[in-house]
Amino acid sequence: MIEAQQVLAPLSRAALVLVVTVNEGAEAAAKTRDLCGDLSGLVRSVGFRDLDAQLSCVVGFGAGVWPRIFDDVRPPARLHPLPRIRGEKHEAVSTPGDLVFHIRAGRPDLCFELATQILTKLAGAVTPVDETQGFRFFDFRDLLGFVDGTENPVGDASVKAALIGAEDPDFAGGSYLVVQKYLHDLDAWNKLPVEAQNKVIGRDKLSNVEMDDAVTPSSAHRILTTIKDDDGNEIKIMRDNMPFGSPAAGEFGTYFIGYAASPTVIEQMLRNMFIGDPAGNYDRILDFSRAVTGNLFFVPSLALLDTLGDD
Ligand code: HEM
Repeated sequence: MIEAQQVLAPLSRAALVLVVTVNEGAEAAAKTRDLCGDLSGLVRSVGFRDLDAQLSCVVGFGAGVWPRIFDDVRPPARLHPLPRIRGEKHEAVSTPGDLVFHIRAGRPDLCFELATQILTKLAGAVTPVDETQGFRFFDFRDLLGFVDGTENPVGDASVKAALIGAEDPDFAGGSYLVVQKYLHDLDAWNKLPVEAQNKVIGRDKLSNVEMDDAVTPSSAHRILTTIKDDDGNEIKIMRDNMPFGSPAAGEFGTYFIGYAASPTVIEQMLRNMFIGDPAGNYDRILDFSRAVTGNLFFVPSLALLDTLGDD
C-alpha cells in the first residue's frame, strides 16, 4: 500500500492549523514546491526533541494553486474549490487558501515551533490567511460541551474512509481535506436547556450515548451527517475537530477538520447541514455556530509529495 501522510494520526492534545496563500510569481511557486521536499526533514528535526509528543504535519494543496506550483503534474480528479453552500438561514463560506498545514502533537510548543520553521522556509513566498491554535478540552469535548469524534472509523475502516484507493490510482494514498472555522454564540447556546441541546446533536451531553432514533429529530447533527451509499452502507469520514478561542475576546470556536477519500461525501454532509434534508430541515447547530472560513485541499501521499518536491 502507498504510504500516506499522517492523515490518520491519533487525536492529539494540541493542534495548529495554518492556511496560507501563495504569492504571485515564479519564485514564490518554486519556493513552495521546494518545501514539499523539505517538510519531512523539518518535522523530524522538531519532533525528535520529544518523540513521546508524536509531532505530525499534513500538508494539503488547493485547486487554484496546484497548476501554478506543479505545472507538470495533472491535478487529482476531484480537486476543486470548496463550493459555497447557501441555505435559507445559514451559509457555508468558501474563503481563500492555497496551502494548509495541519500540525498535531501532544504539546503545543512543538506545533508552534514547527509552524514557525515552516513559515521561515516560506518567507516571502506565502501570505498567512489563518492560524488557529487548538487544544483538547476535557474528555474530547467541543466548546458546546459535547464529546466530539466518537463515531470516527477505526482500523481498516479509517483507511477506507479517508484515503484514496484504486478509484484514482495516480493519487492513491492521498486524501481530501475540508476545513472550516466555526464561531459559537455560547451565550445563546448556554441558555438552551440541556434536553434541547441533546436534540440538536442527537446524543446525551453527559453520557455521550446516542439518543434513541425514535426520539431523535431529523434535524439532529448526527442524523444529517450520516450519509449512505446506494446499498444503504454508511460512508464515513475522519474528523479531528479542535476547540479554540479566547475567553477575553469572547471568542469560542470549533475548527472543523474532515478527511475523506472523496470530497463529495463531506460536501453532501454540508448540504444536509446548511440547506437541510429535506430543504429547510437544516442543522440547528448552525443557529449557534457560524462558519467564517471554508476550504478544500488535496493531501498527496508521502511518495507523491517527495516526487513533487524533487522536480
Ligand atoms: C460547529 C461545528 C461542529 C461541531 C461542534 C460538531 C460536533 C459534533 C458532535 C458533538 C458529534 C457527535 C459525536 C461524534 O463525534 O460522533 C458530531 C458528529 C459528527 N459530525 Fe460534527 N460537528 C461540527 C461540524 C461538522 C461538519 C461541518 C461536518 C461535516 C461536513 C460534521 C460531520 C460529523 C459526522 C460525520 C459525525 C458522525 C455522525 C454519526 O455517524 O453519528 N460535523 N459532530
